[in-house]
Amino acid sequence: GVDISALLSKGGLVTYDPGFANTANTTSAITYIDGDEGILRYRGYPIDQLAENASFLEVSYLLIYGELPTPSELEAFDQRIRRHTLLDEDLKRFFDGFPRNAHPMPVLSAAVSALSTFYQDSVNPFDDTQVSLSTVRLLAKLPTIAAYAYKKSVGQPFLYPDNKLGYVENFLKLTFGVPSEDYEVDPVIAKALDLLFVLHADHEQNCSTSTVRLVGSAQANLFASVSSGIHALHGPLHGGANQAVLEMLESIREQGGDVNAFVQKVKNKEAGVRLMGFGHRVYKNYDPRAAIIKKTADQVLSALGKRDDLLDIAMELEGVALSDDYFVSRKLYPNVDFYTGLLYRAMGFPTRMFTVLFAIGRLPGWIAQWHEMIEDPKTKIGRPRQLYTGPAERPVVPLAQR
Ligand code: ACO
Repeated sequence: GVDISALLSKGGLVTYDPGFANTANTTSAITYIDGDEGILRYRGYPIDQLAENASFLEVSYLLIYGELPTPSELEAFDQRIRRHTLLDEDLKRFFDGFPRNAHPMPVLSAAVSALSTFYQDSVNPFDDTQVSLSTVRLLAKLPTIAAYAYKKSVGQPFLYPDNKLGYVENFLKLTFGVPSEDYEVDPVIAKALDLLFVLHADHEQNCSTSTVRLVGSAQANLFASVSSGIHALHGPLHGGANQAVLEMLESIREQGGDVNAFVQKVKNKEAGVRLMGFGHRVYKNYDPRAAIIKKTADQVLSALGKRDDLLDIAMELEGVALSDDYFVSRKLYPNVDFYTGLLYRAMGFPTRMFTVLFAIGRLPGWIAQWHEMIEDPKTKIGRPRQLYTGPAERPVVPLAQR
């Protein structure tokens, strides 16, 4: 019943664009997406070529500094990160304050927020040396924090980072290693996880990245901005979808594996039932990341010898949806989250860690976008307008007379 055009004519020129579906908030030279053609490029490089030829650290360097590193640049970057993987001992105790059953995403966000209290020598957004330090600290410490959030949830002691290991290998050992036993990193798992991180590393102005930029536009430091982005990512319509997909597949299996019955519920729009892992605001053809992951899922699951009946349900579900007019007419295709959960599960991660893994992958993108925002002289504090629909002016009646 609201007359939008009457509201729009008040108070100067304002665009009304719920969800910012048609509003560009910034120019950016980092990531290019063509949603109709299913194209994704980081700094001009096609995602499939990066997935084939570059490691997560190379891609992180590319996103943050603009070019792929030379071997010596990569070596220096890697060494610098390895030197910063430890957490302050007091910050380690911070995890004791959370209940055992805490979801690791708010724990991750809270610990990243706390970094700005422990590392106050790197919180000035306009000091290049400090920004460089907070960048490396975040990249180095997020996997440690993520692993500790996991260890806390299973009641195991925290391990110290093993800086002889590479980025992904170190994270795997921190997560799955135990002090009394040697832990051998499975190269198949390490390679697949590295690839998944590459595919998640940036996705232009999605909800969490826009959050990082918005918070940062008030000149909040990098730790604070990224901590906010982690909360946005946790939402089930965003990064939380990878957890939701697996829960959906499990519930279909529990109810006898009837994929068609589930699809019918989705089409009937039964109280919030959506086909999780399907649909995307920008991709209206297919999500190029999903295509790469689908191929990888099959290969990795066979290499790990983990035949998963949930993969069969997922493939059947995809087949049913892609031949159903409800999904076809709305241009709903599998997105990056549809198959990732199955891979994470095969690697041994519990469902609650899935979105944490997304956060580790997305970190270089958040950092690169925050750098671009803070260095851009056109940046202004983010401050959207609104169309007011509340009461017109009315007098206050004193309490005794109400
Ligand atoms: N299942 C069933 N129907 C869907 C789905 C879905 N997954 N996604 C969209 N639709 C329908 C809507 O009901 C709507 O139908 P209508 O026109 O009859 O009302 C139509 O498609 C358009 O949907 P919107 O919600 O307007 O699309 P929007 O661009 O706002 O949403 C989103 C995109 C949030 C990703 C949505 O597709 C969704 O909820 N998907 C499931 C959650 C998910 O997988 N999220 C991960 C996204 S990728 C990422 O963050 C990494």
